[in-house]
Amino acid sequence: MTEVTDGVLHTLFRTDQGGHEQVVLCQDRASGLKAVIAIHSTALGPALGGTRFYPYATEEDAVADALNLARGMSYKNAMAGLGHGGGKAVIIGDPERVKTEELLLAYGRAVASLGGRYVTACDVGTYVTDMDIVARECEWTTGRSPANGGAGDSSVLTAFGVFQGMRASAQHRWGDPSLRGRTVGVAGVGKVGHHLVDHLLADGADVVITDVREESVRRVVERHAGRVAAVADTDALIATPGLDVYAPCALGGALNDESVAVLTASVVCGAANNQLAHPGVEKDLADRGILYAPDYVVNAGGVIQVADERHGFDFERCKAKASRIFDTTLDIFAHAKEAGVPPAAAADRIAEQRMAEAGRA
Ligand SMILES: NC(=O)c1ccc[n+]([C@@H]2O[C@H](COP(=O)([O-])OP(=O)(O)OC[C@H]3O[C@@H](n4cnc5c(N)ncnc54)[C@H](O)[C@@H]3O)[C@@H](O)[C@H]2O)c1
Repeated sequence: MTEVTDGVLHTLFRTDQGGHEQVVLCQDRASGLKAVIAIHSTALGPALGGTRFYPYATEEDAVADALNLARGMSYKNAMAGLGHGGGKAVIIGDPERVKTEELLLAYGRAVASLGGRYVTACDVGTYVTDMDIVARECEWTTGRSPANGGAGDSSVLTAFGVFQGMRASAQHRWGDPSLRGRTVGVAGVGKVGHHLVDHLLADGADVVITDVREESVRRVVERHAGRVAAVADTDALIATPGLDVYAPCALGGALNDESVAVLTASVVCGAANNQLAHPGVEKDLADRGILYAPDYVVNAGGVIQVADERHGFDFERCKAKASRIFDTTLDIFAHAKEAGVPPAAAADRIAEQRMAEAGRA
């Protein structure tokens, strides 16, 4: 049979990128639900990843986001050593306007129809309270509230894991994991960023922050009176003289041609997903001598938490697992050095190898 490279299935399964296992389009006319569930891989176990609720400009954008995010989860889960493959769902629409209990229940039924091949959780636009509703129709739901058998807010462990990744970066770069006396810039002090600031100050770092929400900046500055400096925006933050570490903790795409060219820090380690704006940025960073701790390696604390929820959540067990992000990050830097590739490429290779080996088992 001739290979089809431009049909609707080609687009849906991303056959040019190795392909996704399953893409499910869901509609519930009564509630107005329109969702895409993308399962990239179940080689390592049931696909695990959150539900993004977002007002996409086009349906194509929604499908593309689901596919990209699902693929990213395969790599993140493989690298975190979880018995889960990668998947992600998007619900199309403005959550402020269209999110209803009826719609979330319909979404729960859609996820349940997959019989456990996909396990859902929170993401941008969905919260613990939403997952409590989804869970009424679907047993394969994590990110629920503690009152409903869940683990609650995952940002505490995400920040802890990012801090471990940053300590490993400091160890690799300066031969000492402590951040004492280092200047760290945190862009985005929301749920994860403000916890990261706590860890950094406790370790003796000098911290500079920024956020588009004045309220978020004020909250952190007031909490740590006189110990945190705030700058106007991310452009000012990344150009701060004497900056040692840049921690992107807002949205994706923080590392692009422009930002990499002016970045004063020699280490990048932060919580944001998809920090590299396009392929090749990882090489630009390496060429400038900037050590990049791959985002999905260091921000896995959250998914470690929701995966644990499947077996009865235990905070200390999860914290111990998230502590291992320190060693994993160091291993990736060592592999990268040995293979002469940027750390992002080394991480991808290790994750792909794990999936391939599991696929053959
Ligand atoms: N919450 C988790 O457990 C978790 C896990 C893994 C990855 N992440 C990723 O980490 C990042 C932060 O997540 P969060 O849960 O803290 O989200 P959040 O929405 O609570 O915080 C993000 C913060 O970034 C700020 N921001 C947005 N655009 C900005 C800009 N251009 N410049 C400066 N600040 C800006 C927002 O005002 C907000 O305060 C996201 O990319 C998320 O995907 C989060």
